[in-house]
Amino acid sequence: RNLKRQMACRSDIDRFNGPFLGVFESLIPSEEEKVKQKQLLTVLEKLVSKEWPDARLYLYGSCANSFGFSKSDIDVCLAIENGNIDKREVLLKLADMLQLDNLQNVQAIIHARVPIVKLMDPVTGISCDICVNNLLAVVNTKLLRDYAQIDVRLRQLAFIVKHWAKSRGVNVTYQGTLSSYAYVLMCIHFLQQRRPAILPCLQRMRTTCFATVDHVECSYFDQVEKLWNFGERNGESVARLVWAFFHYWAYCHDYANDVISVRMGGTLSKRAKDWTRRVGNDRHLICIEDPFEVSHDLGRVVDKYSIRVLREEFERAAEIMQNDPYPFVTLFELY
Ligand code: CTP
Ligand code: MG
Repeated sequence: RNLKRQMACRSDIDRFNGPFLGVFESLIPSEEEKVKQKQLLTVLEKLVSKEWPDARLYLYGSCANSFGFSKSDIDVCLAIENGNIDKREVLLKLADMLQLDNLQNVQAIIHARVPIVKLMDPVTGISCDICVNNLLAVVNTKLLRDYAQIDVRLRQLAFIVKHWAKSRGVNVTYQGTLSSYAYVLMCIHFLQQRRPAILPCLQRMRTTCFATVDHVECSYFDQVEKLWNFGERNGESVARLVWAFFHYWAYCHDYANDVISVRMGGTLSKRAKDWTRRVGNDRHLICIEDPFEVSHDLGRVVDKYSIRVLREEFERAAEIMQNDPYPFVTLFELY
């Protein structure tokens, strides 16, 4: 690994830029799909307002953070102001109403860490998960969307990384690999580290957007239209960035000591966060700090078996990006 750290990028990398952009474009949802999502949201809003007139519905996750693929499910958060509500009761009531309104496959999953109701809308064919008062997710969705507006290469890189992770089976949290949310944070972190930087650190800039959610302060600079030329001084192609991303996670990241932190725009030490020992189920084998819930390690799902799977996949990807004649095909081969 130490030798490979020094490895220079293949000289022909830029000729793969077109094909990688083609992969990205093939995954983007169509305008028509976006319209259908809004349509479903309107149906749900009408229904919800009958029972909870002051409640609001927010889209969050990939349908709202601009990292969603075509044909993906949508995530909705029902926000109810009243602090004394019982989330599970609300979800059971909601499930009843949805069923009466002819939505299909309605299912309340109330014992999960984040309780939800699942449903499928027969009119649009879209599936949807609804949670209650998960407002941190709504705020971190906006943060990701704001970062995506600064430099188009973030969205391109993250689509390619997510597509790789799904193809290789390393985007399954209950099997100990990482969430899509974690992969996008890894991409943001990576682009903050390029020299010249391709992304700034919004949480270390002047506060223009402020919220306190579940006792967590969420503040950052959100006037991203002022940053549209931020990454201009760095001319790296997406193909080169994909190469460097996998090279970083295969050979350069210090898994034993470092925590990646989008909030700080760099790395922190595990020691500083007291993430050095296993506590309960948190093993901290790959550490990704949540930008707002800073005690939250998004790598906590990774165990001593799946860390090997993950690192071998990073190495495989790095190897392909360095040597394969068709990296834009081989990278995504099903496992
Ligand atoms: N989320 C979170 N904390 C986590 C995992 C997820 O706050 N540990 C929130 C984030 O707001 C994220 C959303 O839940 O955007 C959905 O997470 P996930 O399913 O990982 O990402 P998606 O962007 O929906 O990706 P996919 O396209 O794979 O559905
Ligand atoms: Mg999702």
